[in-house]
This record gives sequence, structure tokens and C-alpha cells, in this order.
Amino acid sequence: MTVPADKQNLVVELRTQIRHHNRRYYELDDPEIPDIEYDRLFLQLRELEAEFPELLTEDSPTQMVGGAAQKQFAPVKHSIAMLSLDNAFSDEQLGAFNQRVLDRLQQTEPVHYSVEPKLDGMAISIRYEAGKLVVAATRGDGRTGEDVTHNVLTINSLPKILKGTTVPSLLEVRGEVFMPSAGFEALNKMARQRGEKTFANPRNATAGSLRQLDSTVAAERPLDIFIYGVGAYEGIELPGSHSDVLLVLADLGFPVCPENKVVSGVEECLDYYQQIGARRSQLDYEIDGVVYKVNDLAQQAELGFVARAPRWAIAHKFPAQEELTRVMNVDWQVGRTGAVTPVARLEPVFVGGVTVSNATLHNMDELERKDVRVGDTVIVRRAGDVIPEVVSVVKEKRLKAARRVKLPVHCPVCGSDISRPEGEAVARCSGGLFCSAQRKEAIKHFVSRRALDIEGLGSKLIDQLVDSGAIETPADIFNKHRVNAESLAGLERMAEKSALNIMQSIEASRDVSFGRFLYALGIREVGEATAENLAVVFGGLGSLEAAAQDVESLQAVPDIGPVVAAYIGAFFSQEHNLEVIAQLTGVGGLRLQETSPAISDPAELLLTGKTFVVTGTLQSMTRDGAKDRIRQLGGKITASVSKNTNFVVHGDAPGSKFAKAQKLGISLLDEAAFLKLLEP
Ligand code: IVH
Repeated sequence: MTVPADKQNLVVELRTQIRHHNRRYYELDDPEIPDIEYDRLFLQLRELEAEFPELLTEDSPTQMVGGAAQKQFAPVKHSIAMLSLDNAFSDEQLGAFNQRVLDRLQQTEPVHYSVEPKLDGMAISIRYEAGKLVVAATRGDGRTGEDVTHNVLTINSLPKILKGTTVPSLLEVRGEVFMPSAGFEALNKMARQRGEKTFANPRNATAGSLRQLDSTVAAERPLDIFIYGVGAYEGIELPGSHSDVLLVLADLGFPVCPENKVVSGVEECLDYYQQIGARRSQLDYEIDGVVYKVNDLAQQAELGFVARAPRWAIAHKFPAQEELTRVMNVDWQVGRTGAVTPVARLEPVFVGGVTVSNATLHNMDELERKDVRVGDTVIVRRAGDVIPEVVSVVKEKRLKAARRVKLPVHCPVCGSDISRPEGEAVARCSGGLFCSAQRKEAIKHFVSRRALDIEGLGSKLIDQLVDSGAIETPADIFNKHRVNAESLAGLERMAEKSALNIMQSIEASRDVSFGRFLYALGIREVGEATAENLAVVFGGLGSLEAAAQDVESLQAVPDIGPVVAAYIGAFFSQEHNLEVIAQLTGVGGLRLQETSPAISDPAELLLTGKTFVVTGTLQSMTRDGAKDRIRQLGGKITASVSKNTNFVVHGDAPGSKFAKAQKLGISLLDEAAFLKLLEP
């Protein structure tokens, strides 16, 4: 059969495109298109090659792994090739894989699979000789990778010397280096504040960090690693199943993903896929699917390999978190502190499990750096609960008519001047509380869960209450002439019953701790922890207001430096703010729970200087409640476990943080031990 010319041309075109994108992704750490778009091109090529086998060539991207090793790093030849994995995008494709495995093994009973998250980082091979880490290399083209030992040595959780009594003369382990989500967000936030380039996603940040010539850069990046396999080895007996090999690896001191398990048959594979998928956004690290591996190593050997991937494993991908779409317009949103944020209005696109039609562009600096124009084709990303953002522009698809975006001169909400101080990324509306957008945001913050926690009084309701003039300040919420069951019930989409419920939650919110109240005021840079520190040190409003006259005295409080002290001073010097506070705390307002006498020396507190991580489900209090208690006693809370953590408080089903704490040898407190610690 002759192949039609158009199909031949398409195959050539697809290969050129895929090679180009391979280079962007594997060699330059700077992909132009989202993974899902790449997968589409790849799949299209594979289908054409299957339809017309005479077109298949040995150098087709479908037959190869990754990209070429970079010149600036010494080449490392892998003694055993590092392969890729085939993908399944549907239950049917997984079923077909399972059937192929059964057929080849001539077996009818269900196959046992080791099921694991597919970690979205960078593959690495690490060689230990006589128990000592000697070299670490990227995958490269699968046969030769790049020597990145200097950077891999900065990963704290990776053993540099193997643990245990039997030390193999040679052991090559394979795994994935990744950047935990919290670390990635913090890194990008810092870059944004400094007006530096941000990373598109944690995988890129990982690859960019590993491919640094200077290891001090990688040392500052929160890199982590999970080991999921073994390459060459000598002087050690390995067990007969993949899951047992993972146990041996853990005994040798390697971090192994705590979510791995063994299942039987394709149904249980799918259950696992669902379960992990549902928890995807709660994991500390990014995963883009799950990997199913035939667990029995003898069966793996029997199944063998094709050109680029093993026959005994497959990756089952999750729905994409990045997609392509078009920018229809750019609008401006005004936040609580007046920050004017550009927001892209998008052609609706399904990404990260929802339809997204707006995405943040963060600030003017970032918009300019990314050079986003109206009409551009862009990559949008929605990962977990993080708000959708525009990651980058696909410049190749830019139209002539694409329009540049200019920062408006006046606030789109109140008309006040917008100013953007030299060297600052953030532009601000100068309208203060005159600007209804800022007022709305201030009130929304005031009632939010971690502040006054007024349930039911949501964003849309507050918009209506402010727009109708019913409320202007947080204090107005407690004024029965302004907010009451009848007036609420008159609002759009508000049933009488819900109106009564809201009145009840307003009532319940009147008893509030001083710390929460301070946080609720929304003073710039005063987050929960700082508010709690202020509350502990000053005990009550009177002494804080007095101290705010002299900003230096504020700096005695943990966490407060000159900048934050100045913001607090400025807040309490504004007549308007003092008025609102007086109304809030006056008759019929809040019942502030103040503590007295105030503790004058923060160092006296029980938990001062101690860092805590709280994980799992507690019985006698919520996790937020536990964190509040720790902060009240002077302790600090962090999201992830590191060697600087002093205690990990854990309830039921604590997950990976618990495992990490164990590995780092950090003190673990169960609920009983924690409660005991809180006792005076
Ligand atoms: S096993 C021969 N297990 O996915 C099979 N790979 O698309 C080797 N990956 O290059 C891979 N999580 O970078 C394996 N639990 C896991 C994985 C995993 C992520 C990556 C790895 C590999 C790529 C293939």
C-alpha cells in the first residue's frame, strides 16, 4: 500500500515539532507548550506510524527517550539504560495494557502491580560505591546523562552514605528529584517580590535547579527526592518483587514515596488511581498520574522492553493542570491593600478539573516580563487549590493584531490615581477606604474563616451590601439598623432561613480572641502569626494602641521588623481606623477576649523558639485550633517538615510529613503528648 503524500508530510512535520519541543523541555528546561499538547502531538505521530508501519524509522521521537545531554556537564554513561514509560490516558487503554501483560505471561489470574504516584520532577540515577555516593546523573537520552552530582548532594533527605550493616559494593538507584509544592510557591513568591523571573511549574524549577553549574543555587532551593528503582548493583541480594526492593531501599536510608502499594488486577489499579486523584491537591508534591508496575521481578524479566519503555509498566495520566487558551482581554482587580492586579479574561478552557475563564497575571512587572498581549495564545495552569495563572505566552502563535496591555492611570473602581513607585512590581490605587473595592476586600477579610469566621456572609453578599450602601466598614455588620434578618432576606438569592443563619453567625462571632481580632483588621503584613505574637505581648487593645505610637517598641515582638512596625504604626495613627475600632469594640459590638497582665518578655513563653508542623486528624481539636494554641504559646508553625522542625504533632492518617519526620529523627508528638506539652 502506498502512503498518501499528505500523511507522509504530516509525519515529517510532527517529528520536527516533537524534536523541537523535546529540546525545549529536556535540554532548555523551558517548554513552549503544555504537556498535554505535547502528548497530543506524540499520540498523533504514534497512531500514524501504527497505521503506516513503512513510515516508522529508528530515529523517530516515538523510539527515543528524552533529549541530548548538555555540553557544560560531564557526560555520564548509564550502565543500564534509563527508559521512559508508555502512557495510558483512559481506563480502556489501561485495560488493554493489562490484557497485553496477561497474554504475554499466558496467565488468567489477576496480575499483582506495584502502584505508585507518577512524580512530576526530574529523573535521576545515583551511584553508590562501597556505600558512598559517587555520582548522580540526569537521564539525558537514556544512555548518556549529565553529571549533576554537585547539586544532588544538596538534597538533604538523600543519604550520602548508605545506612545498614550490609553495604553493597555497587548500587545504582533511580528516582525523581522534585520540588515540594509549598517550597515552589514560596520560591516564586520571592522571585515575584524581587521582580525576578518566576518558574512555570515545580518540574521546571527542579530541572532549572539541578542544571546549575554553581551548587550554592541548588542548595537554596527546596529540592527533595523519592527513589523508585534500582539500576546496576553488586554485592547485595535483592528480593524477588519490586515492592520488597522498595523496602530494602528504605532500609538503606532512601526516601521512598509513602503512597506506594501493591494491588491485584486492573480494578484495584483504577481504585488507586481514583483515590490518589482525589487527594492529589493535598499531597506536598506534584504528581501527574500514577505508575503501575508488574510487581514480580521474574515476570518483569519475562515481559522485557520495547525501544523506549518497559512492557511491564505504564503511566496512567491525570487530567492536565496546564492547557492552551486565548486571552480575550485583561481587566484590573483592586485588592484589600489597593494592589491593582491584572487579570486575564480567557476563552474558557477545561484545566485542573474545572472550566477556567479568568487567570491572574500577578502584577505589572510579571505581565511585562511574560509579555502577555490581548489576543495571545497562552498556557494557563491550575494546580490544586491555587488560583489559575497565566504561565507563559506561546510566541509562535502570536497574531499581528495582538494588543499590548497598559497599566491604567486611574482606578477602574473609584477613579483615584494609581501609583507604582519606582522599582516596585505592585501598582496601587491611592483611594484607600474611599475605594469601594478596597472596602469590600477589607470586609471580606474581616469575616473570613481565620479572622472573625462569620459563616454564610460570603463574597457576593458583601458586594451587594457595600454596593447598596448598607455597610461601609466592618463595624456596620454589627449595627442592627444596617444588617438584620429582613434586610438580608431582601438581597439576591437569599432565603429567609439563610438570613437567620447569618444573623446567628454574626452573633456568635462577637466573642473573639484579641489575636484573631488583630488579624481581622487586615493591617498590612500582619498575618495570623504576627497578630498572635502581638496579642500575647500586649494582651489588649489599650497597651497595643499605646505602643503603636512608638514603633520601636513594636519591634520587640517576635517576627516584627521596622517595615511591619511602620505599617502597624501607620494603621493606628489613622483617625478612620481608630473610629472603626471604637465602634467595633463599643456597646453592642465585639466582646474582645483580652489577656492581662500582658507578658512583657516574649522569651518567657513556653514554646518560644520552637518550630512545629501539625499533620493528620486530631480528635480533641481541629488542626487550626492546635496551631492557634502553639502560636499563643510563642511557637512557630511551618507547612513542611525540615531539619529545622522541632516537633511534629500528628493525629490520625498523618501521611508523608510523619514519614519525613521519622526519617529526619524529629520529635513526634501524638495527641496525648501534645496536650501534655500544652499544660502549664
Ligand atoms: S519508573 C523503566 N516510577 O516518569 C521505568 N518513573 O515517563 C522507569 N516517573 O523517566 C520509570 N514517577 O522520570 C517510575 N514512580 C515512578 C515514577 C517515574 C515519575 C518518571 C520518570 C520516568 C518518567 C517516564
